[in-house]
Amino acid sequence: MKKLLQELKDASLSAISSADSIDVLENLRVKYLGKKGELTAILKQMGTLSEDERPVIGQLANEVREALTSSIDARREELSKKMLEMRLRAEKIDVTMPGKSVTIGKKHPLNTVLDEAMEIFIGMGFTIVDGPEIEYAEYNFTKLNTAEGHPARDRQDTFYFADDDSILLRTQTSPVQARVMETQPLPIRILSPGRVYRKDEVDATHSPMFHQIEGLVVDKGITMGDLKGTLNTLLRKLYGENVVTRFRPHHFPFTEPSCEVDIQCFECGGKGCRMCKGEGWIEILGAGMVHPNVLENCGIDSKVYSGFAFGIGLERITMRRFDISDLRLIFENDVRFLNQF
Ligand code: PHE
Repeated sequence: MKKLLQELKDASLSAISSADSIDVLENLRVKYLGKKGELTAILKQMGTLSEDERPVIGQLANEVREALTSSIDARREELSKKMLEMRLRAEKIDVTMPGKSVTIGKKHPLNTVLDEAMEIFIGMGFTIVDGPEIEYAEYNFTKLNTAEGHPARDRQDTFYFADDDSILLRTQTSPVQARVMETQPLPIRILSPGRVYRKDEVDATHSPMFHQIEGLVVDKGITMGDLKGTLNTLLRKLYGENVVTRFRPHHFPFTEPSCEVDIQCFECGGKGCRMCKGEGWIEILGAGMVHPNVLENCGIDSKVYSGFAFGIGLERITMRRFDISDLRLIFENDVRFLNQF
């Protein structure tokens, strides 16, 4: 038995010293020192020994157990130190390395100008309303005094969905006027920005999708003076007190009288230059007094109530505001362009 113990000691010590992980070490501990381990197996044979031999072997067995235990502890210590070192090495951070920069987006120039415009109108008591981009021809045209057969309804200009031309992508934000007049209590003072669609080829001044800001005021005693005052207030706040505006007669089926509003070119002060294409003036919006037919179409008594409406080209006022010369830049969303605003 002495020999067995000695062999066990030699074999186990060498196994322990070459264990390369804490798991392996734990398995060795069970294998040698566990309840069903090899040392226990040897000690079970103590009964076969003589009275004299027993204490000697007992003593030896204790020594073997102590030697194994302390060798396992020492090895465990060594291994965990080694593992910690490995982890530290693997997770080493070079704090002097340049960091990954986070790119932060910016507000699109269209939104910057739209937010400003909304702010200005909210200050004048307007509320913001939304309307559908997929619209009935009824609202886009008919209720707006634009009967079937009117050139504005041409299939060349409008994206229709249904074969009977009853549903379309709205060509203007004006249908919101009819929707609001039909549903909201008087007086009305609303602003409605949104996308509109027309069959236009893309170039420096055209896009099949662009944005308008519709405005509508209906009350007793509303006049062209209210229209001028409101729009001049907007344009002064957007472009500065010195902006020069011009209300030029025009025609829209749903307003009478109608006008287009221009601002004098900042670049040449009205003389005509490249910026304003020699005109001296830049067209910003269409407007007018709501046509009595439109009021009546929407159930409002045109003898008692009057109103004005306007439709602003958001891209136009944005391009003016930031001196952007090509409409395509606004929709391409190249960050090198967008980051300039
Ligand atoms: N809807 C017109 C357009 O798209 C603009 C407009 C709006 C004109 C409201 C008058 C009143 O050109």
